[in-house]
Amino acid sequence: MNIDANSPIGVFDSGIGGLTVAREIMRNLPMEKIVYFGDTARLPYGSKSKETVIRYSRQIVKFLQSQGVKAVVVACNTASALALDTLEKEIDIPIIGVVKPGAKVAARETVGKKVGVIATEATINSQLYRELIQEIDPEISVVGKACPLFVPLVEEGWRKDPVTEIVARRYLKELQEEDIDTLILGCTHYPLLRGLIADIMGDDVRLVNPAYETSLALKQLLTQHNLLNQKNVEEEFPYRFYVSDAAEKFKSFANSILPYDVEMTKQINLENI
Ligand code: DGL
Repeated sequence: MNIDANSPIGVFDSGIGGLTVAREIMRNLPMEKIVYFGDTARLPYGSKSKETVIRYSRQIVKFLQSQGVKAVVVACNTASALALDTLEKEIDIPIIGVVKPGAKVAARETVGKKVGVIATEATINSQLYRELIQEIDPEISVVGKACPLFVPLVEEGWRKDPVTEIVARRYLKELQEEDIDTLILGCTHYPLLRGLIADIMGDDVRLVNPAYETSLALKQLLTQHNLLNQKNVEEEFPYRFYVSDAAEKFKSFANSILPYDVEMTKQINLENI
C-alpha cells in the first residue's frame, strides 16, 4: 500500500482526554499534522462494555481514514485496552495505543518490582497493563485501582479543587499501603492531575505518563514504516479537531491545555458512518 508521509496522523479518544496525548505528539513530532477525533457525545468509555467500545472505535477509525490519515493513535486507555487488538486486524495502516508504551516504561523503571496502575474500571478489569508488564518480567507485581471520579472532576475544571484532593487521597490510600515504586497514570485525564497525585504518592514513587511514552513509540513506528513527515507543514490548520458533540466546550478545554490556539473544531455525526 502506498501511504503518503505528508498525510496527517489520526488521533482519537472518547473525548477531551486524548488531547494530553496529542499535546505530546505536537511537542515531540512538530512536523506532523494531526486529525483529532473526540467522541464527546458518547463519553465515558470507561464504564462501557468491550463490544460497545469496539463498535465506537471502529466508526471513528473509519472516519479518520476518510480524512486520509497515514497512521492511527488510539489516545484512550480504555479503547486501547478493549479495542486495539481488533482494530489492528481490520486496518492496513500503522496503529498504536497508549497501554503498551506505558507498560513497557513502568516495567523498565520499577526497582522494587511493584507497579501501581490507576485507570478507568474497564481498563483495570481488562488486566491488560498487568499482562503486558508481566510478559516483560513475570516477577513484577501489579496493583490496579479504578478511579472513576477523576474523569468528571477534570472535565468540571476542578483540577486544583479541595474536593478533588479528598477524592484522590481516598483512591490512592490503597496504593500507598502497597509499597509501589512506580505508578502508571493509565487514563488520559490523569496526567492533568499529575501534581496532586505526585504530592500524595511522594517522591519515592515514579509516575509514568503513557501519553509521553506513546509519542516516542509513535516516532519509532513512523520511522520503521518510512512515514515520518520530512516536509515543512504549510497548511493553515495543521491540527484539525472533530467531535461528536459540544464543539465549543471542547474548543475551550483544548485551548486551556494545548500549546497551540485551537481554531478549527467541527461536529460530526458518527452514527451515519
Ligand atoms: N479516555 C478514557 C481513558 O483513557 C477516559 C475517559 C472515558 O472513560 O471515556 O480511559
